[in-house]
Amino acid sequence: MKPRQHLLQLAPYVLPDNTFPAGVTPLYLAQNESALGASPKALSAASNVLRQTNLYPDPNCTDLAAAIALQHRVDAKSILCGNGSLSLIALLCAAYLDPGDEVVTTTYSYLYFRTVAKQLQAKIQFAPEYDYRVDIEAILATVTSQTKMVFVANPGNPTGTLVPSADLVYLRNQLAPDIMLVIDEAYAEYAELAPLFDLVTRGNTVVLRTFSKIYGLAGMRVGWGSFPTEVIDILRRIQRPNTVTKVAQAAATAAMADQEHVDWVRNETASVRTWLTAELENLGIRPVPSNCNFVLCRFPSADDASHVTETLRNLGIVIRQMKGYGMPDCIRITLGTKAQMERFVNTLYKILK
Ligand SMILES: Cc1ncc(COP(=O)(O)O)c(C=O)c1O
Repeated sequence: MKPRQHLLQLAPYVLPDNTFPAGVTPLYLAQNESALGASPKALSAASNVLRQTNLYPDPNCTDLAAAIALQHRVDAKSILCGNGSLSLIALLCAAYLDPGDEVVTTTYSYLYFRTVAKQLQAKIQFAPEYDYRVDIEAILATVTSQTKMVFVANPGNPTGTLVPSADLVYLRNQLAPDIMLVIDEAYAEYAELAPLFDLVTRGNTVVLRTFSKIYGLAGMRVGWGSFPTEVIDILRRIQRPNTVTKVAQAAATAAMADQEHVDWVRNETASVRTWLTAELENLGIRPVPSNCNFVLCRFPSADDASHVTETLRNLGIVIRQMKGYGMPDCIRITLGTKAQMERFVNTLYKILK
């Protein structure tokens, strides 16, 4: 049997080895999950529907879309939910990219944009980032007449830096109307961004969000986006039915309604981030100022970053070296609880001194 040949160029998604020496308690700080967990109301809503799992879920996620619409003051008809925002990125690309089409993103943008483009044999072009920041003029200079989509993650992963909402409005205004602008706001709630949902009504912009980060529901796999009506119409034709489970819909609906929990997670995360930043600076490391639940740190060389990553790992602490992003001299540390970060800092201190 012969698979489609371009698939042989793709690498499977692999996480670092999950085995540790006996007696070591692993601490995973590698996937930007929330260390603070989901709202107790979300967990109880999920457990309440466990007895109905013999039934298929609502394919339209009606209650969930209504909860999102209420919270974000958007039209429920513009909302499409999926099995994580990854699935919505994949869906958009599958619907709008032909082989050879051009996609523009930024040098350090989220890896999955390029993964999907490669899967579909689209060409991906990178606009440079300066000082780990998205540069709108650089994006505009990279766009050509062949460009069909522009992807910007805001705040960025793995940089954690933020593009002011007004700059994205400017980007939209400067882009040709037939180019789709996809703004991936997976971490937006940490930054309390000025909302950009109004851009969606222009018909050529999509704003994506997720329940995987501040809502602490990564394992439930729920993402959503606000899409122009004509885009939703196309996506619904190719989205697999029943993609968001009944349990996930119940959890996400209750989580959206519990904004007190979101505020608490945002504040706790900011306080751990401030503390960690100061500790890292004491160790001579200057992290990139982050608006997210992770921080990016640059080391003098790729070898230094590898040494720190591997030594931490042998001691049970898993962080990510950013080789895949073309930043082998950088590591990204997901923020854990204060106690977890104390363990991280104490271990790092021993490694560096
Ligand atoms: C920028 C960005 N977009 C999307 C995602 C995917 O999130 P989800 O869990 O909703 O698929 C992530 C996850 O790390 C991310 O960092």
